Order: sequence, then C-alpha cells, then structure tokens
Amino acid sequence: MIIGHGGNKTALAKQLGCHVDEIIDMSANLNPLGPPERIKTVIQNNISAIGHLPEPDAWSMVQGFSRYHDIDPETVIAGNGTTWFIYTLPLALQAQNVLILGPTYSDYADACRMHHIEPKFWIADFENGFVPDLEAVSKMAAHADLVFICNPNNPTGVLLDPAFVTTLLQRHPRVCFVVDESYLPFVDHSEDVSLIQAGPFPNLLVLSSMSKIFAIPGLRTGFLSGAPDWIEKVRDFSQPWHVNALAQVVIQDIFDHPEQIAPFYETTRAFIAREKQWFLQKQENFSGLVPVPGHTGFILARLENHTALPVCERVGQDRILIRDCGNFHGLNQRFVRFSLKDRATNMKLADSLAKALTQ
Ligand SMILES: Cc1ncc(COP(=O)(O)O)c(C=O)c1O
Repeated sequence: MIIGHGGNKTALAKQLGCHVDEIIDMSANLNPLGPPERIKTVIQNNISAIGHLPEPDAWSMVQGFSRYHDIDPETVIAGNGTTWFIYTLPLALQAQNVLILGPTYSDYADACRMHHIEPKFWIADFENGFVPDLEAVSKMAAHADLVFICNPNNPTGVLLDPAFVTTLLQRHPRVCFVVDESYLPFVDHSEDVSLIQAGPFPNLLVLSSMSKIFAIPGLRTGFLSGAPDWIEKVRDFSQPWHVNALAQVVIQDIFDHPEQIAPFYETTRAFIAREKQWFLQKQENFSGLVPVPGHTGFILARLENHTALPVCERVGQDRILIRDCGNFHGLNQRFVRFSLKDRATNMKLADSLAKALTQ
C-alpha cells in the first residue's frame, strides 16, 4: 500500500500551513526514545560507505542477527525493511489461498492483491478484546497455504501466547505461517514469546523489523528467518544490494554490541509502561474513549460518541497526527490509534483528545 499508512506529516503540515517539523506524529508506531545514541555517530563515521557497493546479500548483517538470536545464518535473509518480504512472500511461496488474522496491518492483504490473490480474513472482534479464537482460526487455516499473523498485532496491540501459533504449526504442517514480530521487542519478556528460536518447525517464517524498536524506518531494514525450504524460495527472489550501505553498517554495529541491546529494550519497555499507565489513568476522565487492552506502546481506542475523522481533524488542529483506523479491514470509523511519546507530548495529546471528545 503506497498510501493509507500512518505518518503523513507532510500532508497535515501543508493543510495547516506550518513546517513539517512542527507536527507531532503520534500515528507512526516508533520507539518514543528515538534511535540508540550510537547510531548517529556510526552514520557520521561511515558516511564514506555510500561511495561503494555494499555486500550484495548483506551477509554481515545476517550474521549479526543470527549470532544475537543464536540461529543458523543460512535460515535468515536481510531485507529492505520487512515490507520487501511481505510483498514478496505470496509470489515466492506461490500462494493461492491466503488467510490473514485481522483486523491487522493492511499490507499483508495489499501484498496478496498485488499478486492477484484475494485473501480470506478471520476477524477478531472488539467485544472479545480482539483476541482470536484458536479453533475458528484453525478451521480456516486448514484451507490455506499461507497464513499471516501479526504478534503483537498492529493496530490492536493484542499479544498471542506462543502456544496459539505452535498449535497451528503442528496441526497444519503443510501451511506456511508467517508471524510478524516487528513490535515484539517492545513487550516485556518478549524473548519468551518470540518464535525466532522456535527451532524445528518446517512451516514457520518470522518477520523482524528493525524500523520500530530502533526508530530507524528511513534506513529500511528488517529480517526474515525460519524454515530453510521456504527461506530458499524467498532467497530466489532477492536482488543484489537490496539493503543499502549505511543501513548495513548501522545494523552490523548494533549486533556487534549485543551488550547494549538488552538495556535499550529494557529502558524502552519501562518508559512505555510508565507512559501508558499515566495515559490510561488520565483518559478515565474523558468520556467516550475506550482503549483496547494491548501490549504495545501504541493504543487502539474505540470512540463511543464520535467518528474518527472529525476527532483526528480536531486533534490535527493542535498539530498532532493520530491514526484514523477506518481503513483497516475489520475496524470501522469508530477507531483511532496513537503511539505514546514523552510525558509532555502525551499531556498535549490528552488535552487535545479531551477537547475533541467534548465537541
Ligand atoms: C506490523 C508491521 N509489519 C511490518 C511493517 C513494515 O515495516 P518495515 O518495512 O519498516 O520493516 C509495519 C510498518 O508499519 C508494520 O506495522
């Protein structure tokens, strides 16, 4: 999907007649702490990397990720963001019947449609906290050859127990399950939930975006890991130099300093937990905003008495961008999503939302 994501700061700035930097973007789900400190220095010190071709298969970056997760590098591919994998998987795996657990990130469906596949959906509902039903999903998965699951899910924030996925993997050995763990590093003890090290499942692929947790969406980096046979099929579609030189240097540097990763995750998680607790307490004072219980720094909320568009427009007047979720399949005009930031910004959002909801 080229349009329809969060983060369209430019359009809002143009509409308000202000500079793009004056817009507070709470519509994109990035680490509120920003990138780890060392990344800027690494880029500055390695700017000469743009003067030559990088490794064609980004192999050093693959090795770094594999070393960190203690997995075989042959079962990992580096990508120009996970987006490249999402749009390549239906073609590379020659999928015909795709199932998507929704409501979820729209690009899985868009990727299918790009390859002339109309996906089927299993849609969880608000009343059940958007938690999917294993038996119902399993019934539909039996007729699929490829299943997309986002864990934790964007935009609901719902975190699935690993047993939910491993049960499906065991019951449907011929179905390829793609589990998108792009937001998992934000979750406490996510190492116990991640399937990257799940081992011998021959039908599991895991997507890991570097964009979200390290707040570097502009560098375009991510990984696909898992079942060797499926990985080989995707590798056949790889193009040389598909990860740019600076991106390769930055990701290599991150994994060359593994001792700094866990503390960065911990600080991020503690920061998000604190801000989320503050916001959820604060919002109890507003009427008409019902947050979905989730495990992420972004919050999906249902509007009781308003539709999303005027609320987003009203909040936009305060130069804050939040996500109207009306175009997520399985949601409707009653849902908005926002990503929390630092306390001062969250206070601005709370005030702005309170105003919008009393209009
Ligand atoms: C669930 C999910 N997966 C993948 C992506 C794509 O991220 P990237 O291509 O930067 O890795 C996004 C972006 O918003 C996302 O929300």
